[in-house]
Amino acid sequence: MIGELNHVAIVVPDLDKAVDTYRYALGAKLSEPNDLPEHGVRVVFVELPNTKIELLLPIGENSPVAKFLERNPDGGMHHICYEVEDILAARDKLVAEGARVLGHGEPKTGAHGKPVLFLHPKDFCGTLVELEQC
Ligand code: CO
Repeated sequence: MIGELNHVAIVVPDLDKAVDTYRYALGAKLSEPNDLPEHGVRVVFVELPNTKIELLLPIGENSPVAKFLERNPDGGMHHICYEVEDILAARDKLVAEGARVLGHGEPKTGAHGKPVLFLHPKDFCGTLVELEQC
């Protein structure tokens, strides 16, 4: 069921600084910033040959990543995103296996304009997992 690693997400306290670090120190190719108010984040993607890094800055009130930044003021790894072919079938199978889907359980539109879901970290080795239908 699980497909490719779509991206690893890192929450950052200063997006411009993070972009400069990836662009100049690491020599990476980056996307333009994109605001996703529904998710409470501004996103920049680092394009790697085999996957992506999603740099996340909290925006707006009640951003779900604001608390993460309070606990990790320097930023840190926030989630990993796996691709699935059919997100509803994947969700139903995971729920049947006892996994918990965060929120209301229905897919939202993610950073690539595709349906995404988040799974409870306690059910996945302490790691927040995002599923994206690709
Ligand atoms: Co993500």
